[in-house]
Amino acid sequence: MTNFGDVTLSAKNEVLESNSIESLEKIKVKYFGKNGLINKEMKKLSSLDTEGKKTIGKKLNLFKREFSELILERKNFFRKKEIENKINAEFSDPTMPTRKNILNSGRVHPITQTIEEIVSILGSMGLQYVEGPDVEDDFHNFTALNIPENHPARQMHDTFYISSKEDKKNVLRTHTSPVQIRCLKDSNLPIKIFAPGRTYRCDSDITHTPMFHQVEGLIVDKDISFSNLKWFITRFCKIFFNKKDLKLRFRPSFFPFTEPSAEVDINCFRKNNKIYLGEGNDWMEILGCGMVHPNVFRACNLGNKKTSGFAFGVGIERLCMLKYGMPDLRDFFDNDLRWLNHYGFSFFNYPDLNWE
Ligand code: PHE
Repeated sequence: MTNFGDVTLSAKNEVLESNSIESLEKIKVKYFGKNGLINKEMKKLSSLDTEGKKTIGKKLNLFKREFSELILERKNFFRKKEIENKINAEFSDPTMPTRKNILNSGRVHPITQTIEEIVSILGSMGLQYVEGPDVEDDFHNFTALNIPENHPARQMHDTFYISSKEDKKNVLRTHTSPVQIRCLKDSNLPIKIFAPGRTYRCDSDITHTPMFHQVEGLIVDKDISFSNLKWFITRFCKIFFNKKDLKLRFRPSFFPFTEPSAEVDINCFRKNNKIYLGEGNDWMEILGCGMVHPNVFRACNLGNKKTSGFAFGVGIERLCMLKYGMPDLRDFFDNDLRWLNHYGFSFFNYPDLNWE
Protein backbone atom coordinates (compact mmCIF):
# COMPACT_ATOMS: atom_id res chain seq x y z
CA MET A 1 0.00 0.00 0.00
CA THR A 2 1.14 3.57 -0.79
CA ASN A 3 2.81 5.58 1.96
CA PHE A 4 0.43 8.52 2.24
CA GLY A 5 2.79 10.62 4.28
CA ASP A 6 5.35 10.64 1.46
CA VAL A 7 2.74 11.18 -1.25
CA THR A 8 1.13 14.05 0.60
CA LEU A 9 4.49 15.70 1.11
CA SER A 10 5.71 15.37 -2.47
CA ALA A 11 2.29 16.38 -3.89
CA LYS A 12 2.27 19.46 -1.71
CA ASN A 13 5.81 20.32 -2.75
CA GLU A 14 4.89 19.92 -6.39
CA VAL A 15 2.02 22.34 -5.94
CA LEU A 16 4.17 24.87 -4.10
CA GLU A 17 6.92 24.64 -6.68
CA SER A 18 4.60 24.98 -9.66
CA ASN A 19 5.09 28.24 -11.50
CA SER A 20 1.94 28.67 -13.54
CA ILE A 21 -1.74 27.82 -13.70
CA GLU A 22 -0.94 25.39 -16.57
CA SER A 23 1.59 23.44 -14.52
CA LEU A 24 -0.93 23.32 -11.67
CA GLU A 25 -3.45 21.76 -14.05
CA LYS A 26 -0.93 19.06 -14.93
CA ILE A 27 -0.35 18.28 -11.26
CA LYS A 28 -4.10 18.14 -10.71
CA VAL A 29 -4.50 15.62 -13.52
CA LYS A 30 -1.59 13.59 -12.15
CA TYR A 31 -3.35 13.16 -8.83
CA PHE A 32 -7.05 13.62 -9.52
CA GLY A 33 -7.30 12.57 -13.15
CA LYS A 34 -9.00 9.41 -14.38
CA ASN A 35 -5.76 7.51 -14.18
CA GLY A 36 -4.47 9.63 -11.37
CA LEU A 37 -3.09 8.48 -8.09
CA ILE A 38 -6.26 9.07 -6.08
CA ASN A 39 -8.40 7.05 -8.44
CA LYS A 40 -5.90 4.22 -8.42
CA GLU A 41 -5.87 4.19 -4.63
CA MET A 42 -9.66 4.35 -4.52
CA LYS A 43 -9.84 1.29 -6.71
CA LYS A 44 -7.50 -0.56 -4.39
CA LEU A 45 -9.84 0.11 -1.47
CA SER A 46 -12.24 -2.64 -2.57
CA SER A 47 -9.62 -5.26 -1.88
CA LEU A 48 -9.19 -4.13 1.73
CA ASP A 49 -11.06 -5.28 4.79
CA THR A 50 -13.55 -3.02 6.54
CA GLU A 51 -10.97 -1.64 8.96
CA GLY A 52 -8.48 -1.01 6.15
CA LYS A 53 -11.18 0.61 4.05
CA LYS A 54 -12.00 2.88 6.95
CA THR A 55 -8.47 4.05 7.79
CA ILE A 56 -7.15 4.29 4.25
CA GLY A 57 -10.43 5.81 3.02
CA LYS A 58 -10.17 8.46 5.71
CA LYS A 59 -6.56 9.25 4.79
CA LEU A 60 -7.46 9.43 1.11
CA ASN A 61 -10.33 11.81 1.79
CA LEU A 62 -8.17 13.99 3.97
CA PHE A 63 -5.49 14.07 1.30
CA LYS A 64 -8.09 14.90 -1.33
CA ARG A 65 -9.45 17.79 0.70
CA GLU A 66 -6.09 19.22 1.70
CA PHE A 67 -4.66 18.81 -1.75
CA SER A 68 -7.53 20.48 -3.56
CA GLU A 69 -7.45 23.33 -1.04
CA LEU A 70 -3.76 23.77 -1.67
CA ILE A 71 -4.26 23.77 -5.42
CA LEU A 72 -7.02 26.34 -5.10
CA GLU A 73 -4.84 28.51 -2.91
CA ARG A 74 -1.95 28.33 -5.38
CA LYS A 75 -4.31 29.02 -8.27
CA ASN A 76 -5.62 32.14 -6.53
CA PHE A 77 -2.07 33.21 -5.91
CA PHE A 78 -1.32 32.99 -9.65
CA ARG A 79 -4.54 34.77 -10.56
CA LYS A 80 -3.76 37.62 -8.18
CA LYS A 81 -0.27 37.89 -9.55
CA GLU A 82 -1.60 37.95 -13.09
CA ILE A 83 -3.95 40.82 -12.23
CA GLU A 84 -1.18 42.67 -10.45
CA ASN A 85 1.11 42.30 -13.46
CA LYS A 86 -1.64 43.52 -15.73
CA ILE A 87 -2.32 46.54 -13.55
CA ASN A 88 1.37 47.36 -13.41
CA ALA A 89 1.75 46.97 -17.15
CA GLU A 90 -1.27 49.13 -17.84
CA PHE A 91 -0.49 51.74 -15.19
CA SER A 92 -0.65 55.24 -16.48
CA ASP A 93 -0.09 58.48 -14.63
CA PRO A 94 -2.76 60.89 -15.87
CA THR A 95 -0.59 63.82 -14.90
CA MET A 96 2.11 62.82 -17.36
CA PRO A 97 2.19 64.30 -20.89
CA THR A 98 0.30 62.20 -23.44
CA ARG A 99 3.12 62.15 -25.96
CA LYS A 100 6.34 60.35 -25.15
CA ASN A 101 9.45 62.44 -24.50
CA ILE A 102 7.46 65.64 -24.68
CA LEU A 103 9.19 66.94 -21.56
CA ASN A 104 12.46 66.85 -23.46
CA SER A 105 11.31 67.73 -26.94
CA GLY A 106 8.62 70.33 -26.14
CA ARG A 107 9.70 73.90 -25.62
CA VAL A 108 8.43 76.82 -23.58
CA HIS A 109 7.82 79.76 -25.90
CA PRO A 110 10.30 82.61 -25.36
CA ILE A 111 7.42 85.00 -24.68
CA THR A 112 6.14 82.73 -21.89
CA GLN A 113 9.63 82.48 -20.47
CA THR A 114 10.13 86.25 -20.59
CA ILE A 115 6.77 86.87 -18.91
CA GLU A 116 7.76 84.40 -16.19
CA GLU A 117 11.00 86.28 -15.65
CA ILE A 118 9.16 89.60 -15.46
CA VAL A 119 6.59 88.14 -13.06
CA SER A 120 9.39 86.84 -10.91
CA ILE A 121 11.25 90.17 -10.77
CA LEU A 122 8.29 92.52 -10.35
CA GLY A 123 6.62 90.13 -7.91
CA SER A 124 9.76 90.08 -5.79
CA MET A 125 9.93 93.88 -5.95
CA GLY A 126 6.55 93.99 -4.20
CA LEU A 127 4.14 94.44 -7.10
CA GLN A 128 0.92 92.50 -7.40
CA TYR A 129 0.07 90.61 -10.60
CA VAL A 130 -3.21 91.77 -12.13
CA GLU A 131 -4.96 91.21 -15.43
CA GLY A 132 -7.34 93.23 -17.54
CA PRO A 133 -9.57 92.29 -20.47
CA ASP A 134 -8.26 92.17 -24.04
CA VAL A 135 -11.48 93.76 -25.26
CA GLU A 136 -11.68 97.20 -23.72
CA ASP A 137 -14.12 100.06 -23.93
CA ASP A 138 -13.20 103.46 -25.23
CA PHE A 139 -13.22 104.95 -21.73
CA HIS A 140 -10.55 102.66 -20.27
CA ASN A 141 -8.35 102.46 -23.35
CA PHE A 142 -8.45 106.19 -24.20
CA THR A 143 -10.68 108.70 -22.42
CA ALA A 144 -9.67 107.99 -18.83
CA LEU A 145 -6.04 107.95 -19.95
CA ASN A 146 -6.34 111.58 -20.93
CA ILE A 147 -6.89 110.80 -24.61
CA PRO A 148 -10.30 112.35 -25.29
CA GLU A 149 -12.20 111.75 -28.52
CA ASN A 150 -10.68 113.53 -31.52
CA HIS A 151 -7.43 113.98 -29.63
CA PRO A 152 -4.52 113.61 -32.07
CA ALA A 153 -2.89 111.08 -29.71
CA ARG A 154 -5.52 108.57 -30.78
CA GLN A 155 -3.78 108.49 -34.14
CA MET A 156 -0.65 107.13 -32.44
CA HIS A 157 -2.56 103.90 -31.92
CA ASP A 158 -3.75 101.98 -34.96
CA THR A 159 -6.79 100.72 -33.20
CA PHE A 160 -8.87 97.64 -33.97
CA TYR A 161 -12.46 98.71 -33.33
CA ILE A 162 -15.05 96.12 -32.47
CA SER A 163 -18.55 96.71 -33.69
CA SER A 164 -21.14 96.53 -30.96
CA LYS A 165 -24.89 96.96 -30.89
CA GLU A 166 -24.79 99.52 -28.12
CA ASP A 167 -23.45 102.95 -28.74
CA LYS A 168 -20.42 102.13 -26.60
CA LYS A 169 -17.32 101.65 -28.74
CA ASN A 170 -15.22 98.63 -27.91
CA VAL A 171 -11.65 98.13 -28.99
CA LEU A 172 -8.95 95.49 -28.74
CA ARG A 173 -6.77 97.21 -26.18
CA THR A 174 -3.94 99.04 -27.89
CA HIS A 175 -1.78 98.97 -24.76
CA THR A 176 -1.90 97.59 -21.21
CA SER A 177 -2.41 101.07 -19.73
CA PRO A 178 -6.21 100.60 -19.36
CA VAL A 179 -5.37 98.19 -16.52
CA GLN A 180 -4.05 101.28 -14.68
CA ILE A 181 -7.53 102.78 -14.83
CA ARG A 182 -9.19 99.60 -13.57
CA CYS A 183 -6.82 99.46 -10.59
CA LEU A 184 -7.00 103.18 -9.79
CA LYS A 185 -10.79 102.98 -9.70
CA ASP A 186 -10.99 99.86 -7.61
CA SER A 187 -8.16 99.89 -5.08
CA ASN A 188 -7.10 101.75 -2.00
CA LEU A 189 -3.65 103.28 -1.74
CA PRO A 190 -0.94 102.23 -1.98
CA ILE A 191 -1.40 100.66 -5.42
CA LYS A 192 1.52 98.55 -6.57
CA ILE A 193 0.60 96.44 -9.56
CA PHE A 194 1.89 95.07 -12.81
CA ALA A 195 -0.16 93.67 -15.65
CA PRO A 196 1.35 91.61 -18.45
CA GLY A 197 -0.81 90.66 -21.41
CA ARG A 198 -1.70 90.85 -25.07
CA THR A 199 -2.14 94.12 -26.90
CA TYR A 200 -3.28 94.82 -30.46
CA ARG A 201 -2.58 97.36 -33.15
CA CYS A 202 -3.49 97.30 -36.82
CA ASP A 203 0.11 97.30 -37.98
CA SER A 204 2.36 94.70 -39.55
CA ASP A 205 5.96 94.98 -40.72
CA ILE A 206 9.45 93.92 -39.60
CA THR A 207 9.07 95.62 -36.24
CA HIS A 208 5.29 95.35 -35.73
CA THR A 209 2.83 92.50 -35.41
CA PRO A 210 -0.94 93.02 -35.02
CA MET A 211 -0.80 91.27 -31.65
CA PHE A 212 2.07 91.74 -29.26
CA HIS A 213 2.65 91.76 -25.51
CA GLN A 214 3.23 94.48 -23.00
CA VAL A 215 3.63 94.69 -19.29
CA GLU A 216 2.29 97.67 -17.42
CA GLY A 217 3.56 98.79 -14.04
CA LEU A 218 1.86 101.24 -11.71
CA ILE A 219 2.90 102.48 -8.29
CA VAL A 220 0.67 105.05 -6.59
CA ASP A 221 0.92 106.36 -3.06
CA LYS A 222 1.55 109.62 -1.29
CA ASP A 223 4.66 111.52 -2.37
CA ILE A 224 5.96 109.18 -5.04
CA SER A 225 8.61 111.02 -7.03
CA PHE A 226 10.44 110.73 -10.34
CA SER A 227 13.54 109.48 -8.49
CA ASN A 228 11.47 106.53 -7.23
CA LEU A 229 10.59 105.81 -10.86
CA LYS A 230 14.24 106.03 -11.94
CA TRP A 231 15.41 103.74 -9.17
CA PHE A 232 12.68 101.19 -9.87
CA ILE A 233 13.20 101.00 -13.64
CA THR A 234 16.98 100.84 -13.24
CA ARG A 235 16.76 97.99 -10.76
CA PHE A 236 14.31 96.09 -12.94
CA CYS A 237 16.47 96.41 -16.06
CA LYS A 238 19.71 95.44 -14.33
CA ILE A 239 18.13 92.27 -12.96
CA PHE A 240 16.27 91.42 -16.15
CA PHE A 241 19.32 91.80 -18.40
CA ASN A 242 21.60 90.39 -15.71
CA LYS A 243 24.03 93.28 -16.14
CA LYS A 244 25.14 95.11 -13.00
CA ASP A 245 26.79 97.89 -14.98
CA LEU A 246 23.92 98.49 -17.40
CA LYS A 247 23.58 102.22 -18.10
CA LEU A 248 20.15 103.76 -18.57
CA ARG A 249 19.19 107.04 -20.22
CA PHE A 250 15.89 108.71 -19.38
CA ARG A 251 14.95 110.74 -22.44
CA PRO A 252 12.06 113.27 -22.29
CA SER A 253 9.08 112.02 -24.24
CA PHE A 254 5.34 112.35 -24.49
CA PHE A 255 2.46 110.17 -23.39
CA PRO A 256 -0.93 111.75 -22.74
CA PHE A 257 -1.35 109.86 -19.47
CA THR A 258 1.99 110.74 -17.85
CA GLU A 259 3.61 114.06 -17.07
CA PRO A 260 6.53 114.30 -17.19
CA SER A 261 7.07 111.35 -19.53
CA ALA A 262 10.24 109.60 -20.50
CA GLU A 263 11.51 106.93 -22.80
CA VAL A 264 14.24 104.77 -21.38
CA ASP A 265 17.26 103.67 -23.39
CA ILE A 266 19.92 101.19 -22.37
CA ASN A 267 23.50 101.43 -23.52
CA CYS A 268 24.65 99.04 -26.19
CA PHE A 269 27.21 98.36 -28.85
CA ARG A 270 26.37 97.26 -32.39
CA LYS A 271 28.72 95.16 -34.48
CA ASN A 272 28.01 92.95 -37.53
CA ASN A 273 24.26 93.25 -37.06
CA LYS A 274 24.59 92.10 -33.45
CA ILE A 275 23.70 94.11 -30.39
CA TYR A 276 25.75 93.86 -27.23
CA LEU A 277 23.91 95.22 -24.20
CA GLY A 278 25.54 97.08 -21.33
CA GLU A 279 28.60 97.87 -23.45
CA GLY A 280 29.56 100.75 -25.75
CA ASN A 281 28.08 104.20 -26.20
CA ASP A 282 25.10 103.50 -28.42
CA TRP A 283 21.54 103.57 -27.06
CA MET A 284 18.55 101.32 -27.52
CA GLU A 285 15.03 102.30 -26.53
CA ILE A 286 13.29 99.78 -24.30
CA LEU A 287 10.32 101.32 -22.52
CA GLY A 288 8.03 104.26 -21.87
CA CYS A 289 7.26 105.69 -18.45
CA GLY A 290 6.32 108.76 -16.50
CA MET A 291 4.49 110.27 -13.56
CA VAL A 292 0.74 109.58 -13.61
CA HIS A 293 -1.04 112.60 -15.14
CA PRO A 294 -3.41 114.48 -12.77
CA ASN A 295 -6.20 114.07 -15.35
CA VAL A 296 -5.88 110.29 -15.01
CA PHE A 297 -6.31 110.56 -11.23
CA ARG A 298 -9.29 112.85 -11.78
CA ALA A 299 -10.95 110.41 -14.17
CA CYS A 300 -10.64 107.79 -11.44
CA ASN A 301 -11.92 110.07 -8.67
CA LEU A 302 -8.53 110.21 -6.99
CA GLY A 303 -8.10 113.95 -6.81
CA ASN A 304 -6.11 114.17 -3.57
CA LYS A 305 -3.16 116.54 -4.08
CA LYS A 306 -0.72 114.36 -2.24
CA THR A 307 -1.51 111.30 -4.32
CA SER A 308 1.17 110.70 -6.90
CA GLY A 309 2.57 107.78 -8.79
CA PHE A 310 4.51 106.50 -11.70
CA ALA A 311 3.71 104.11 -14.51
CA PHE A 312 5.68 102.29 -17.13
CA GLY A 313 4.92 100.15 -20.14
CA VAL A 314 7.29 97.70 -21.80
CA GLY A 315 7.06 95.67 -24.96
CA ILE A 316 7.72 92.07 -23.98
CA GLU A 317 8.85 90.90 -27.45
CA ARG A 318 11.38 93.71 -27.53
CA LEU A 319 12.81 92.77 -24.10
CA CYS A 320 12.97 89.15 -25.17
CA MET A 321 14.65 89.89 -28.52
CA LEU A 322 17.27 92.02 -26.82
CA LYS A 323 17.98 89.53 -24.08
CA TYR A 324 18.02 86.38 -26.20
CA GLY A 325 19.12 87.75 -29.57
CA MET A 326 16.20 87.04 -31.89
CA PRO A 327 16.57 89.12 -35.03
CA ASP A 328 13.00 89.21 -36.38
CA LEU A 329 9.84 89.96 -34.44
CA ARG A 330 7.54 88.11 -36.84
CA ASP A 331 9.20 84.75 -36.08
CA PHE A 332 7.57 84.84 -32.63
CA PHE A 333 4.18 84.08 -34.11
CA ASP A 334 5.05 81.86 -37.08
CA ASN A 335 4.97 78.68 -35.02
CA ASP A 336 7.92 77.29 -36.95
CA LEU A 337 9.08 74.31 -34.90
CA ARG A 338 12.70 74.86 -35.93
CA TRP A 339 12.60 78.37 -34.47
CA LEU A 340 10.79 77.15 -31.34
CA ASN A 341 13.31 74.36 -30.82
CA HIS A 342 16.17 76.77 -31.23
CA TYR A 343 14.93 79.68 -29.10
CA GLY A 344 12.49 77.87 -26.80
CA PHE A 345 13.21 76.95 -23.20
CA SER A 346 13.10 73.69 -21.32
CA PHE A 347 10.16 73.15 -18.97
CA PHE A 348 12.68 72.74 -16.19
CA ASN A 349 14.43 76.02 -16.88
CA TYR A 350 13.23 78.28 -14.09
CA PRO A 351 13.98 81.98 -14.53
CA ASP A 352 17.62 82.27 -13.64
CA LEU A 353 17.95 85.70 -12.07
CA ASN A 354 20.81 87.37 -10.33
CA TRP A 355 19.68 89.63 -7.50
CA GLU A 356 23.03 91.03 -6.39
N1 PHE B 1 1.11 102.69 -22.96
C1 PHE B 1 2.34 103.21 -23.52
C2 PHE B 1 2.55 102.57 -24.90
O1 PHE B 1 1.88 101.63 -25.24
C3 PHE B 1 3.52 102.91 -22.64
C4 PHE B 1 3.48 103.62 -21.33
C5 PHE B 1 2.88 103.04 -20.24
C6 PHE B 1 4.03 104.88 -21.20
C7 PHE B 1 2.85 103.70 -19.02
C8 PHE B 1 4.01 105.53 -20.00
C9 PHE B 1 3.43 104.96 -18.93
O2 PHE B 1 3.38 103.00 -25.66
